[in-house]
Amino acid sequence: RENKVIAPKLLDWYDRHARSLPWRIPPGSGQRADPYRVWLSEVMLQQTTVAAVRDYFLRFTARWPGVQDLAAADDAEVMAEWAGLGYYARARNLLACARQVASAGGFPTTRDGLRALPGIGPYTSAAIAAIAYDQPETVVDGNVERVVSRLFAVEKPLPVAKPDLTALAETLTPQMRPGDFAQAMMDLGATICTPRSPACGICPLIDDCDARAAGIAANLPRKAPK
Ligand code: ADE
Repeated sequence: RENKVIAPKLLDWYDRHARSLPWRIPPGSGQRADPYRVWLSEVMLQQTTVAAVRDYFLRFTARWPGVQDLAAADDAEVMAEWAGLGYYARARNLLACARQVASAGGFPTTRDGLRALPGIGPYTSAAIAAIAYDQPETVVDGNVERVVSRLFAVEKPLPVAKPDLTALAETLTPQMRPGDFAQAMMDLGATICTPRSPACGICPLIDDCDARAAGIAANLPRKAPK
């Protein structure tokens, strides 16, 4: 497959259209993301929508502004603040992780180091490395799988296509601003390259999209029959 270069166009779009989210540093502001806030938001977002996570994130960070604060919290108080987010194993892992990080004096700064913590898998470790530390890691969630399947017109169905989509996503990740790039891919998937009727007419990547050219964008990604 050809080598696509989408990062300059996508980052330019993100500079103008990034969603304003409480855990996010506005692009171009020059501020550094806080690994604690990135970690907390990504764990909350694992099985929950951005809209639902917003208020939980604001309450958690008001009450426990840093990882040391959360590490020192009562289990029952954290479980009570978590109530409604579901998947309570996540909340237990959250506390175990906070305590491990607090005793170590801070978050690990590599993807592999992050991956070794409770509740942090391949997705979350890549997200923290890219967003908090601006390392060129590739972050692949459902939104990104959809965007990539369309850009490259991948007809192989999910879930078997997952490794292919991850490999293709890796070819897109830039060395410059990989954290903004990861968030831009998620925003594009959430706001333009949507599952049902993608807004190709306003997509910054319309000229790069093989599925659009073939008239099949809305049909991808395909899913294997259950
Ligand atoms: N979904 C999961 N993580 C996200 C992020 N950092 N920005 C937007 N949507 C997300």
